[in-house]
Amino acid sequence: MRRAIYPGSFDPVTNGHLDIIQRGCKLFDEIIVAILINPDKTPFFSVAERKEILAQVLKEIEQGGCKVIVDSFEGLLVQYAAERKANAIVRGIRAISDYEYELQMALMNRRLEPSLETVFMMPAEAYSYVSSRLVKEVFHLGGKIEGLVPSLVEQRMRDK
Ligand code: PNS
Repeated sequence: MRRAIYPGSFDPVTNGHLDIIQRGCKLFDEIIVAILINPDKTPFFSVAERKEILAQVLKEIEQGGCKVIVDSFEGLLVQYAAERKANAIVRGIRAISDYEYELQMALMNRRLEPSLETVFMMPAEAYSYVSSRLVKEVFHLGGKIEGLVPSLVEQRMRDK
């Protein structure tokens, strides 16, 4: 049983995140999409809203034989991974600019929990520039975000 944690803010979930989940599904039997509860940040969507949106959009993607679960966590990721008996952490890397931060986190997590591996995955080129931060910025400024996020996310952003 290969279980991975895919941690992040997912505020909001983008098509890039979904692409990574689908790729991760080829490697793992179970992926837990884990939303960080971060009291220091003021998010666009609450954790409960992000959980609900993720659960909805995940119903619409092909997962093969892999089970995808949505959860949230507080505190250290390695501790949460141990509680959930996960073998690996999945993180998406888009460009070389992501690498430095991701490497730092991966090595710190390895120091904290040597048995837990971090697996970096590359999304499709079409999503290599897509981030939740840019999606929110473009949306706030009235730009088109169609194709960058699932249509449900776009709708929920408009509703807000
Ligand atoms: O989507 P994000 O915001 O880039 O995700 C960052 C996340 C959630 C992976 C990272 O902030 C995290 O793991 N936070 C949990 C706290 C923790 O374990 N910190 C030490 C990591 S080296």
